[in-house]
Amino acid sequence: MVSKHACLRRVAIPAAAVPLSRLSRRGYGIVGPDRGADPTKGKGPISWRNVAITAALGGGLLAFMLYVKKEKEMALLRERKRMLGKAAIGGQFELVDQDGKPRSSSEFLGQWLLIYFGFTHCPDVCPDEMEKMVAVVDKLETMPNAPRVQSLFITVDPVRDTTDVVKKYIAEFSPKLIGLTGSPEQVEKTCKAYRVYFSAGPRGSDDDYIVDHTIIMYLVNPDGEFVDYYGQNKSAEEIANSVAINALKYDQLNKSWF
Ligand code: NI
Repeated sequence: MVSKHACLRRVAIPAAAVPLSRLSRRGYGIVGPDRGADPTKGKGPISWRNVAITAALGGGLLAFMLYVKKEKEMALLRERKRMLGKAAIGGQFELVDQDGKPRSSSEFLGQWLLIYFGFTHCPDVCPDEMEKMVAVVDKLETMPNAPRVQSLFITVDPVRDTTDVVKKYIAEFSPKLIGLTGSPEQVEKTCKAYRVYFSAGPRGSDDDYIVDHTIIMYLVNPDGEFVDYYGQNKSAEEIANSVAINALKYDQLNKSWF
């Protein structure tokens, strides 16, 4: 916001002042009573009057521009409030990626994210949703003006899904994916922020177990804010279109007018 103000002052005043002062000087020259009688006498008052007119017109223009800017800011604020009211979903996270590198949510600021929560031992639903997320990212790359999206897989089963397990798992789907795990506390905190429910079922004879969990893909904007979510019923095409529309809205809201 500060940089926008500075930009407005630097650009707006000279741009408005130059043509206006020329115009009023010409105009005064035609109708001015003193000009023919004594050209030297008129100079002082003319230029001072021009300065006054220019300042008044320029000031009016500047006030109008500031008014427009204020209105724009208010609209932005209203939209933000609306979005916050919609759902307090998402937030910061501290996890570990497939290479064992700590990754914080702040590293992803400036990027659009698709996040899917699941677990590598999931027999059917998670693989389908992972394939869908990869299809969405690939589809967006072919759409003109659509943003590039980073896809994240976050495990809800950190005990079994170590970094090595996650690494092998995501490699089955796409090299573009980032897989995140962490301590049970880190994962729980992240799931809580995204309102992801998960519950490990009873262990079978082979010590295997199923984790019941929310099946939702989340869209996060470059400010790290939750924007939209997609359930199992949404197709890759529907999700890609929704991401593109959300990105367009985001760009329009954040576009500078001056
Ligand atoms: Ni699953």
